[in-house]
Amino acid sequence: MWTIAAAIILGLAMFVFFLFRVFEYSILARRKKLPPGSMGWPYIGETLQLYSGSTNSFFSLKQKRYGDVFKTHILGCPCVMIASPEAARFVLVSQAHLFKPTFPTSKQRIIGPQALFFHDGPYHAKLRKLVVSSFATEGIKSILSDIESLTIATLDSWDAKKINTFTEMKKFTFQVGILRIFGRQENIDMNELNEAYLSLENGYNSLAINIPGTKFNNAMKARRRLSKIVEKVVQSRRAKSQHRSDDSNFLDVLLASKEESGQQLSHEQVVDNIIGIIFASRDTTASVLTWIIKFLKSSPVLLESVTAEHESITLKKASSDDRLTWEDTKCMHLTTRVIQETLRVATVLSFTFREAVEDVEYKGYIIPKGWKVLPLFRNIHHSPDYFPDPQKFDPSRFEATPKANTFLPFGNGVHSCPGSELAKLEMLVFIHHLITKFRWELDESKTGVQYSPFQIPQEGLPIRVDRK
Ligand code: HEM
Repeated sequence: MWTIAAAIILGLAMFVFFLFRVFEYSILARRKKLPPGSMGWPYIGETLQLYSGSTNSFFSLKQKRYGDVFKTHILGCPCVMIASPEAARFVLVSQAHLFKPTFPTSKQRIIGPQALFFHDGPYHAKLRKLVVSSFATEGIKSILSDIESLTIATLDSWDAKKINTFTEMKKFTFQVGILRIFGRQENIDMNELNEAYLSLENGYNSLAINIPGTKFNNAMKARRRLSKIVEKVVQSRRAKSQHRSDDSNFLDVLLASKEESGQQLSHEQVVDNIIGIIFASRDTTASVLTWIIKFLKSSPVLLESVTAEHESITLKKASSDDRLTWEDTKCMHLTTRVIQETLRVATVLSFTFREAVEDVEYKGYIIPKGWKVLPLFRNIHHSPDYFPDPQKFDPSRFEATPKANTFLPFGNGVHSCPGSELAKLEMLVFIHHLITKFRWELDESKTGVQYSPFQIPQEGLPIRVDRK
């Protein structure tokens, strides 16, 4: 009896809510011109349609039906999707001040609210400067040889084994990230760090319910463990009388900013930004590396040409043990195009999120204040208008520079990726050693795609690896 009554009340409440939303949107649509599109059911909107197939086909079908700017309602939020280079520039660059970054609460609290990508304005600019100085070209030249050592050790551990490419690549990119963050001299327990980060990332997509036993609660505990690890490193660094290592790593830069600017960074700010960098750098780079291994093996002629490019670099060395130089990495032209084409075809970050801070007019449409705005990088990368025969993996298309705002694997504007140079360097060095010393076989029964949440080959691309 009570169950029936509760069901009726719930049903009525949903109906009233539905009428309210229909009314609200129709008033909005009459007063202002909203972009075309459909808003689906109350609250759930079109979330079910989004997750019933692939995210990519949901967005492509919508774009075909409504054009480059359309509205929808997903994950409890009204959204405007934008899928043209001009609109992406409008949101990310020319009118970026009208759109603020936005993330789910659980992610913000787990990574830490002081991480730079949650902010705009002077705090963001200050932190961004510190990140750029550690991760752009001058900051990473000094760790080329360390990245190479990590690459060689990783590949040696793969020899004569069947491995899961994505899992292994995550270990590699994690190690590179930690190297750049803490420097080479720090005595850090990598297992402890890795374990704490794994528990933390388990909570990224959970609901922010902080009671014992929930994923979110476990992630918050892992955050405290990570915070203690960083605290220990900071203390030992200070104990060594303001010691600064020769590679001026990210932690040194954060701590130095404390001393030089007078505006001190708190311990939380340091920790949140360290966790933020691990979050932004590990899975992104690992998934692109995984796709490269798949694409190279699937195109034998290309694999041969890329191998030739790397063998010619090795041949110029006096000894086969000689290390790569910065100049060598600048001669890897074909490999660079393979990386660009992988970034385009795979587009591991299919879109990003912003929120309108006021009502914004774009091409006669109104994007209401508080609505989410999603620049759809994948739709732009897969448009035949900018990349003919877009499904074809063809690195030669990057012999010509792509048109402005059509190639955005690292975003654009004030929040564009400050780690793009490091990511490309890791990939070049890894491909060099893989391709010159090893051969690998794909599991032909696994040709699909899955989401982790980034798009990766099915089951993380299991491969068999053997030394040549
Ligand atoms: C292939 C690998 C990578 C891809 C595809 C990638 C992609 C992106 C994209 C698209 C954005 C912009 C997001 C937005 O506008 O909302 C971004 C931002 C960011 N990335 Fe990367 N990234 C990669 C690797 C890295 C690495 C290695 C680092 C290490 C430093 C890094 C650190 C960051 C940070 C800190 C931001 C936020 C910047 C800000 O808000 O000012 N990324 N990345």
